[in-house]
Amino acid sequence: MKVLVTGHRGYIGSVMVPILLQAGHAVQGLDSGLYRRCAYAPGGVSAQVPAQEKDIRDVRPSDLTGFDAVIHLAALSNDPLSNLDPEVTYAINHKGAVRVATAAKAAGVTRFLFASSCSNYGLSGADLIDENGALNPVSAYGHSKVRAEHDIAALGDADFAPVFLRPATAYGLSPMLRFDIVLNNLVAWAVTQNVIHMKSDGTPWRPIVHIRDISSAFLAALEAPSERVHNQAFNVGQTEHNYQIRQIAEVVAATVPGCRLEYADDAGPDPRSYRVDFSKIARVLPAFRPQWDVVAGAKELFEAYTGSGLTLSDFEGPRYQRISHIRQLLETETIDSSLRWPEAVLPARASA
Ligand SMILES: NC(=O)c1ccc[n+]([C@@H]2O[C@H](COP(=O)([O-])OP(=O)(O)OC[C@H]3O[C@@H](n4cnc5c(N)ncnc54)[C@H](O)[C@@H]3O)[C@@H](O)[C@H]2O)c1
Repeated sequence: MKVLVTGHRGYIGSVMVPILLQAGHAVQGLDSGLYRRCAYAPGGVSAQVPAQEKDIRDVRPSDLTGFDAVIHLAALSNDPLSNLDPEVTYAINHKGAVRVATAAKAAGVTRFLFASSCSNYGLSGADLIDENGALNPVSAYGHSKVRAEHDIAALGDADFAPVFLRPATAYGLSPMLRFDIVLNNLVAWAVTQNVIHMKSDGTPWRPIVHIRDISSAFLAALEAPSERVHNQAFNVGQTEHNYQIRQIAEVVAATVPGCRLEYADDAGPDPRSYRVDFSKIARVLPAFRPQWDVVAGAKELFEAYTGSGLTLSDFEGPRYQRISHIRQLLETETIDSSLRWPEAVLPARASA
C-alpha cells in the first residue's frame, strides 16, 4: 500500500515508519518538524523517506493524491503541552486532524488511521473501561482527541474508512525520544540521579505500551479487511499492562542498581487515572501481537541511557522535553504564537 504518515518525524512516527517499510508498504511523510532539533542519537537514526515539510493546518487534497491510506500522528502530544495554549491545540489536534481527514477523503484515500489516545477516558477510576465507556477527558489534549474522533467518524462511508486507535501511554527507545512520558522519564532520573522522582503520589492507574507495539497495532489496522475496522475505535495496549505509577517506579528500581524512590514535595493524586480493557484489539485484530512489557522496556532504556552522557537539564529541559522545547522556540521567536515556522523555514506553506 502507498501510505502517508503525518507526524512521521515524531517519537512514535520515527519508529513506525521503518516497521511499515519492513512490512512492504511504500511510505511517505508529512511533518512541520517542530522537534527537528530534538534528535536523540542513542535511539538510532530515523529512516529517510520522501516527505512534505508542511503544517497540517495547510494540507490540501492535492497533497494526499495517490495514497491508499493516511496514518495521522501529527499533533501536540501531551496534556501539559496542550494546556500551554488550548486554542492552538484545538486548531492542530481537532480542526487540523479533521482537515487532513477531509482532504484525504476528497483525494480518494480509502483508509484513515487516527492516532487518538486513552487520555479520552480521563477521570474514569479503577474499573476497567473499554471502547464503549464514557469519555471524560481532563485536558485540552483529551478534549481535542475526542472532538476529532467525533467529526472524523462523520466522514466515514463506503469509500472512506476512518479507524481510531487509542494507545495507552507510550514508552520505549526512539531516535526522537520523549522524556516527558512516565517510563522514559523515571528511568532517566534513576540512571542520571540515582533517584526515581515521582511527580504524583504514585496511586493513579495508567496503562502503558511500547512504541513498537503501537506501530504493530497501526500496521494490523492498516492491513485488516475494511469491514473489521470501519469507523471503529481500538484501545492499543494489553489489559495486564495497567499499572499504578508506583508499580512502574518499582520496576525501574529493580532495573537500575542503587537508586531510591522519591516523591515531589507537592505530590498529590494526578487526576488522570484510568484502567483500560484492551480485549477488543486482541479479538478483532489478531495480527496485533504485542511483544513488550515494562520490564523489557525499562531494561532497553537503562541500556541506552547508561554511558550516553545524558544530563538532568537535557531530559527535564528544552532539549528533550516537548513543552520546554516549544517554550524555548517561542521565547526566541523561532516559531510564532500559533506554532508556525516562518515562511523561509517552511517553504511548503507558501506554495500550498
Ligand atoms: N506518546 C504517547 O504516549 C501517545 C499516546 C497515545 C497517543 N499518542 C498520539 O500519537 C501521536 C504521535 O505522538 P508522539 O508521541 O510521536 O508525538 P511527538 O510530539 O513526538 O510527534 C508529533 C509530530 O507531529 C508533528 N506536528 C505537530 N504539529 C504539527 C503540525 N501543525 N503540522 C505538521 N506536523 C506537526 C511534530 O513536528 C512531531 O514530529 C499523537 O497524535 C499523539 O497524540 C501518543
